[in-house]
Amino acid sequence: MHTDWYIVNLDKLGYAASLDNIADLPDPKRHEFIRGDITDRELLGKLWSDGFEIVVNFAAETHVDRSILWADEFIKTDVLGAFTLLEAARQFGVKRFIQISTDEVYGSVENGSSTEDSPLNPRNPYSVSKTAADRLAFAYFATHNVPVIVTRCSNNFGPNQHPEKFIPLFITNALENKPLPLYGDGRYVRDWIYVEDHCAALDFLIEQAQAGETYNIAGGNEVENIAVARQICQHLGKPESSIQPVKDRPGHDRRYSLDAGKLARLGWKPARDFSAALVSTIDWYAHNEPWWRTIKSGEFKRYYEQQYGSRL
Ligand code: TYD
Repeated sequence: MHTDWYIVNLDKLGYAASLDNIADLPDPKRHEFIRGDITDRELLGKLWSDGFEIVVNFAAETHVDRSILWADEFIKTDVLGAFTLLEAARQFGVKRFIQISTDEVYGSVENGSSTEDSPLNPRNPYSVSKTAADRLAFAYFATHNVPVIVTRCSNNFGPNQHPEKFIPLFITNALENKPLPLYGDGRYVRDWIYVEDHCAALDFLIEQAQAGETYNIAGGNEVENIAVARQICQHLGKPESSIQPVKDRPGHDRRYSLDAGKLARLGWKPARDFSAALVSTIDWYAHNEPWWRTIKSGEFKRYYEQQYGSRL
């Protein structure tokens, strides 16, 4: 971590955010939190008045199932938000602009792995929004010389992840002795990366990346969903019969697979072993019940019923 940094964290605190997630920062004096929306031009102009060296755009609506139910916020935050930040970067200047993209821009990969030059084929409102932002960011490099770097990472997991996502949903449902709703045949493949490995890769790329370039960041852990679900049951001592096949996600991408050779050639690879990181993630949720119970008892209940039906 670069200790000479002063970080301004701009977040609108939408449904998936929580100030608890930044409660124990290592050095709070170097961190300023501002509640606000990246689509707010005026606010960005004010914040930029002291200048920013590096802008990292993590802000996004991220849950595919919600994008299928309600796409509006995805277009607004992921596309218009990225555009508004890029415009501010063009107008006020920046030394580096990192657009956090996703492996989902490549769409479902039946065979082999996607390199940064593979065709883009997003297939749901979330991945299309992220692809729009990914290419818009590149356009600001190509046409306006904004020093943009695009990173496309595989599925993240770890502590503090909202329980709508597969791994925390299955862990917390198992802890509550509820069914684990597995979409379709459960043989969908995701490449899991521990969240701290993703952050370490970004830290590395902030120093090493070339403007105008795109970098895949992969965990190197391609696992079928059913296998992840079984590991969760096993570690928590729950029966595998708690895994319940449910109606599949429409347009469900079968597999994501990244070729991360470009990043490896620069000298970075992930450090965490998947099974060990999964166990420590399960333990984190087991020891932080109040954190996820607060989330699961709020707006999430309405979403959960709409998504999974009242039976589950
Ligand atoms: P998710 O965490 O939503 O990430 P993404 O769709 O962006 O990859 O889902 C990961 C995988 O788990 C995906 O194949 C869908 C599957 N899944 C289930 O089987 N059941 C669930 O309840 C959820 C949320 C996901």
